[in-house]
Amino acid sequence: MLITSLQLRDFRNYEAADVEFGRGLTAILGENGQGKSNLIEAIGWLSGIGSFRGAPDDALTRVGADAAVIRATVESDDGREQLIEAELPRVGRNRLQVNRQRLQRNSDLREVLRVTVFSPDDLSLVKGGPALRRRWIDDALVGRHPRHDPLRTDLERVLRQRNALLRSAGGRLDADAEFTLDVWDSKLAVIGGSLRQSRLELLDEIGPRLAGAYDSVARRAADVGVNYVSSWSDDLASALVESRKIDVRRGVSTVGPHRDEIELSIGGIPARTHASQGEQRSLALALRLAVDSVVRDGGSNPVLLLDDVFSELDPGRAEALLGALPDAQRLLTSASGLPDGAVPDQVVRVAGGTILSET
Ligand SMILES: Nc1ncnc2c1ncn2[C@@H]1O[C@H](COP(=O)(O)OP(=O)(O)OP(=O)(O)O)[C@@H](O)[C@H]1O
Ligand SMILES: [Mg+2]
Repeated sequence: MLITSLQLRDFRNYEAADVEFGRGLTAILGENGQGKSNLIEAIGWLSGIGSFRGAPDDALTRVGADAAVIRATVESDDGREQLIEAELPRVGRNRLQVNRQRLQRNSDLREVLRVTVFSPDDLSLVKGGPALRRRWIDDALVGRHPRHDPLRTDLERVLRQRNALLRSAGGRLDADAEFTLDVWDSKLAVIGGSLRQSRLELLDEIGPRLAGAYDSVARRAADVGVNYVSSWSDDLASALVESRKIDVRRGVSTVGPHRDEIELSIGGIPARTHASQGEQRSLALALRLAVDSVVRDGGSNPVLLLDDVFSELDPGRAEALLGALPDAQRLLTSASGLPDGAVPDQVVRVAGGTILSET
């Protein structure tokens, strides 16, 4: 998959920009606050994931303008060209078109453009709480098998309803509430069991790639481990029966896939609490690389968007990271330049929301 051109109108700090991209490695360079991340954020948005920085859509329209427009030409692996167009008005619904045909939902964009994003916020995958790692593995599941998307939405719905029931029970269940809780529990048992199974299977696939990716970036055998710690042992249905008293008293669901943890370690030592900043950064990059590799084996060929990936890495690791990237289109931003030995296929310079030069 290849992005061949990008046009922006009133997107973030760009009034108007037109960029052509080539194959291989494109370095997007410039000082802080010039619009490097904004450029690849726009591309990420067209892949259906919204802002990879988690910004709401109305932050994307240039201050003072009424609507942002993002337009890109994408070449799929079979050589087909598709024109993706998005208009994000400050007020009202977004308009999305692919080859001038309207799309209904943002998520439909995923069929047209696939990206793997490496963002500075990824550090929290290693340093932050378990919810972020659960989201990481669940996103990977959907990336690998789109049929997993409903599983996740079903889980959220059942948990929302179960928790609402527990809260309204106020510590004591009457017969009606008891009956309704049985219904939610049987649903949660099925969905939860199936989600845990899928996560475990995918982690089996990801584990060796994660360790391999980390070793490539670290340039040594570091023994990276990934360990799934479940909130129940064998059977979720009986675990829910056992936890019912506690759940009713506390008004929350204390077992299920939403309480499971993915522990990461380097050399047998917990990465979250013990690893150095550079080690945590390397591990965060490896988490993204490992999922990208699994998704690629599943037959898709995402464009890599790499935002500020060299910060915290020593020069050796920075250079090794470039070497560890798959042979795909790679769009990479940096405020500090490229590591020694890097030979980009294209350089795009950005200053004050203007594309200065392309070589
Ligand atoms: N909606 C908006 N309207 C106008 N300007 C905006 C909007 N959103 C962000 N900006 C501005 O865009 C500028 C560039 O942001 P961007 O994150 O792309 O910088 P960068 O080149 O990646 O910098 P860094 O090297 O610090 O990461 C910021 O100064 C910000 O204030
Ligand atoms: Mg940036």
